[in-house]
Amino acid sequence: MSKTPRDPRKILVTSALPYANGSIHLGHLLEYIQTDIWVRFQKSRGHECYYVCADDAHGTAIMLRAEQEGISPEALIERVSREHQEDFARFQVGFDNYHSTHSQENRLHSERIYTRLRDAGHIATREIEQMYDPVKGLFLADRFIKGTCPRCGADDQYGDNCEVCSATYTPAELIDPVSAISGATPEVRSSVHYFFKLQDFERFLKGWLVGGHVQEQIANKLQEWFEIGLNEWDISRDAPYFGFEIPDAPGKYFYVWLDAPIGYLASFQNLCDREGLDFDAYWNPDSEAEVYHFIGKDIVYFHALFWPAMLKGANLRTPSGVFCHGFVTVNGAKMSKSRGTFIKASTYAQHLNPEYLRYYFAAKLTAGVDDLDLNLEDFAYRVNADLVGKVVNIASRCAGFVKKFGDAKLSEHCAEPALVARFIAAGDAIAEDYESREFARAMRRIMELADAANTYIADAEPWVLAKQEGREQEVLEICSVGINLFRQLMVYLAPVVPKMAAEAQAFLKLDSLDWHSRHELLIGHEIDKFKPLMTRVERERIDAMIEASKEDLVEEKKLKETPKGPLADSPVAPQIAFDDFAKIDLRIVRIAKAEYVEGADKLLKLTLDLGSETRTVFSGIRSAYAPEALEGMLTVMVANLAPRKMRFGVSEGMVLAAGDEDSIYLLEPHSGAKPGQRVT
Ligand code: MSP
Ligand code: ZN
Repeated sequence: MSKTPRDPRKILVTSALPYANGSIHLGHLLEYIQTDIWVRFQKSRGHECYYVCADDAHGTAIMLRAEQEGISPEALIERVSREHQEDFARFQVGFDNYHSTHSQENRLHSERIYTRLRDAGHIATREIEQMYDPVKGLFLADRFIKGTCPRCGADDQYGDNCEVCSATYTPAELIDPVSAISGATPEVRSSVHYFFKLQDFERFLKGWLVGGHVQEQIANKLQEWFEIGLNEWDISRDAPYFGFEIPDAPGKYFYVWLDAPIGYLASFQNLCDREGLDFDAYWNPDSEAEVYHFIGKDIVYFHALFWPAMLKGANLRTPSGVFCHGFVTVNGAKMSKSRGTFIKASTYAQHLNPEYLRYYFAAKLTAGVDDLDLNLEDFAYRVNADLVGKVVNIASRCAGFVKKFGDAKLSEHCAEPALVARFIAAGDAIAEDYESREFARAMRRIMELADAANTYIADAEPWVLAKQEGREQEVLEICSVGINLFRQLMVYLAPVVPKMAAEAQAFLKLDSLDWHSRHELLIGHEIDKFKPLMTRVERERIDAMIEASKEDLVEEKKLKETPKGPLADSPVAPQIAFDDFAKIDLRIVRIAKAEYVEGADKLLKLTLDLGSETRTVFSGIRSAYAPEALEGMLTVMVANLAPRKMRFGVSEGMVLAAGDEDSIYLLEPHSGAKPGQRVT
């Protein structure tokens, strides 16, 4: 039996490179687990598949973080890289190589790509004006500038938008702007920047887009971007900057997002050099290899526009596919530090088996870009019911009898060839689901098979027969069928739960659980002593993980130089007359619809039902609520606030909420209140 298919594909796969200044959390893990499952599946099928990644180590944030910790950026990224790799290993994310964007390979590839783009006329330079911190001697990105909101007068707002009234503006419009780094008043200074002329690639990108390289929802998004028009992309930053200096421009550095995707090439180059692989066979324009990037929906612009254009312009091959996934929410809301649902990979792993999470994500993942909710009740239920209750159960019910009646050897004769054949045949459909990243569908098919196996055993009642004289052979045959079915299931589940599969493989005394190995029945085959392969998820462990995540937050707060106080610490505003208060028309409303706003990471768009009419309101509550969790809920709105025109549309009033940056609580009336009722 050949283990390799006749036409092994050459496949290179990447996940996005995590930033080197933060811990891996469950949101990240969705991506690395999704990618890893796909890669393990390809390897199981006998394809030549490499999975590479790296830390994204450059940029101002990392430079400042290192400074704050009193260490060099190199020391910081070294430490974080080690932590990241430990986390990935715990979750069985099996990279073939893990590198860094701060590496020699990346410098060479970045310089090479830049030079090729420049020589082909795709780089422009021009002067731009920017805020500058004269104390730190640093140009300031918008998020490093704070000041008073020009619209509502709230203090301490960031340079691009107001968290209180959701206004958006440029840092130059802020009242009394200060540098968030030094507290100094920024000056406007001009300097020369380098730009990548993305518009040169419009024709190419439009063609690439219709070539089926991205999901349909992403293609639609790109279509919108084409309609808005493509702009030059600013790829340089002035010193001081932690990154690579641009070859022909002393004092100018590549913007972190320029060399980040090139990090995919660098990591693969590093692997090729180590293992003697042919880099060019994967990256030449006429390469027959396949290249896939798995990414989150927040970084589509970089991967579906800039990146293919850069590759094209540098005469390298472009990606076969960019596979985008949605965001993880926990219990229906965005991960929140104060609720303890911002869960780090390491915190999770201290309390729960990482393969529970791998299975749960697989059971919910589709090929689409919808968000994925980790509902902790459902998580415990699904894992216990499926993996423990259905799959492990088959082996644990059968193993003892095989030992007792067959001296640990399966029967020489298969009592249910049709049933086993059905399990083997199901592998083709399951493989198609894995290939097309419809993991949830694959898991459903596998669990249907597990149900069938359990039904077979329950109906055959080997434990009843075992007590009857002279039926030992029958019992052995039933349980041997059970073990064969269990083996098929482990072949199918191995990409999802590799550790459990390795233990099952040892129990089954098999050389391989590869996809093709399933065709060979286990006849007269010896098995090992059965050890429980997975235990049940315990509620207490989940609770302990949530508590520990809240403590992580306390630790982090202690580390921050100037923690932001809750609003409750702010003094009470000056008195107003009752008449002033009476001018405010507060109404009960029902949230009919809640949606994300493209391009606004703090806002949700709410459609409010006032009974007699509906209003559209943009509210800065995205950090605390997932849209689905809000729909149907009652809250209170200011109904007579003058409409405000915002970048994303007109906001017709506002909803009332309490809280600070990482804990926002919408007000909700007592049960019985009706939309339209006045609040006095
Ligand atoms: N450094 C960039 C990527 C550069 S790729 C050339 C970056 N890093 S990140 O650490 O912020 O995110 C890494 C990946 O994790 C991204 O694909 C991002 O979408 C994904 N996720 C981060 N938080 C997530 C969730 N809450 N849910 C799902 N994926 C999430 O972006
Ligand atoms: Zn404001």
